[in-house]
Amino acid sequence: MNAVSQNLKGLFIGAGFFSRNHLNAWAEVEGAGIAAICDRDPVRAEAAAKEFGIAEWVTDAAVLQSGRFDFVDICTTMETHEALVGLAVQAGVPVIVQKPFAPDIETCLRIEANARKAGVPVMLHENFRFQKIFRRLREILSSGEIGDITFGRLNWRNDIDVYTNQPYLVETRRFMIMDVGIHMLDLARFLLGDASEVSCFNQSVKEGIAGEDAATMLLRHDNKAVSVVDVSYASHKSPNPFPQTLGEIEGRLGTVEILEGQVLRVHTAAGRRDEVIAEDGRAWTAAPWTQIQDSVPRTQQHFIDCLRDGRDFETSAQDSLKTYALAEAAYRSAASGRTVGIAELLKEA
Ligand SMILES: NC(=O)c1ccc[n+]([C@@H]2O[C@H](COP(=O)([O-])OP(=O)(O)OC[C@H]3O[C@@H](n4cnc5c(N)ncnc54)[C@H](O)[C@@H]3O)[C@@H](O)[C@H]2O)c1
Repeated sequence: MNAVSQNLKGLFIGAGFFSRNHLNAWAEVEGAGIAAICDRDPVRAEAAAKEFGIAEWVTDAAVLQSGRFDFVDICTTMETHEALVGLAVQAGVPVIVQKPFAPDIETCLRIEANARKAGVPVMLHENFRFQKIFRRLREILSSGEIGDITFGRLNWRNDIDVYTNQPYLVETRRFMIMDVGIHMLDLARFLLGDASEVSCFNQSVKEGIAGEDAATMLLRHDNKAVSVVDVSYASHKSPNPFPQTLGEIEGRLGTVEILEGQVLRVHTAAGRRDEVIAEDGRAWTAAPWTQIQDSVPRTQQHFIDCLRDGRDFETSAQDSLKTYALAEAAYRSAASGRTVGIAELLKEA
């Protein structure tokens, strides 16, 4: 990527449930701001523009062709991404787009290839790895304190009512792995390195939903580490651990546990210590979402910093294909009862 000038002007598309986190975050991001809001529902577009003090709102993403935007933030659901990213690529406008990338891997490969051929940078809005606790955990692992990584367990099990705020999830056939599993798979790659094989069992626990609401995935990483990635919206606990990812990472010299209350517990031959990760303390964040909300400005700042400096995004479209392929492999494993490798799935990339 080539470096571009500062004070970038963005178009924001998709003024739905999660958009307020993006829009609050954009108000904090240095070197960029949102110049216009687009939603195909005019009531939503106007209301968001008014609430966030943005002068212009539109209902048609074709406004991307106007040459007035330096980037676009696409916060719509996955089935709309190919058309919207395609419009941006045609207009030469860099993109940050929400996960999941698309409904299936063939579509992801098409979107990525189209952007790469046109030289338009695309980043996936993968905010979980930008949670403060995982930035700190990555630092601990990189310091060598617990040695080479051998095992990891990442678990997200709670019974938050996702169906009220995101009613489309009731009808989503690829549900849990695409909704939260994909974040966990990205985290597994971030913390343990790339993975090449997946075994998975899916469960549909809640009655009346179209897809799976629980999945247990077993990953083999390229460095021979093994991880268990475990997600469920059907786990009843008190207090509800939402939205914490819990688990542990083991190395040859020690272990880091990821505990409730945003605690990293580091065990080595030197003893045991706890690091408590504090919330950022923003006025617009609120429990229980704070940990997720705090990660959104960090994700968007990374996008802008990379654009400004001409660096590759951590979660570029090309890199994120490796995450998506793990999710695709998990579905194929669950359907076939076999371990599925990702090399074949990525062969078009
Ligand atoms: N990272 C996270 O923690 C997190 C949390 C929640 C949702 N998400 C993701 O965010 C994305 C959006 O989710 P949501 O719950 O806000 O969805 P939503 O359905 O509430 O909102 C999407 C909005 O996009 C608009 N839209 C759709 N297609 C459009 C088009 N072609 N042009 C203009 N506007 C269009 C819709 O009218 C709607 O207002 C999803 O992919 C979801 O997985 C991420």
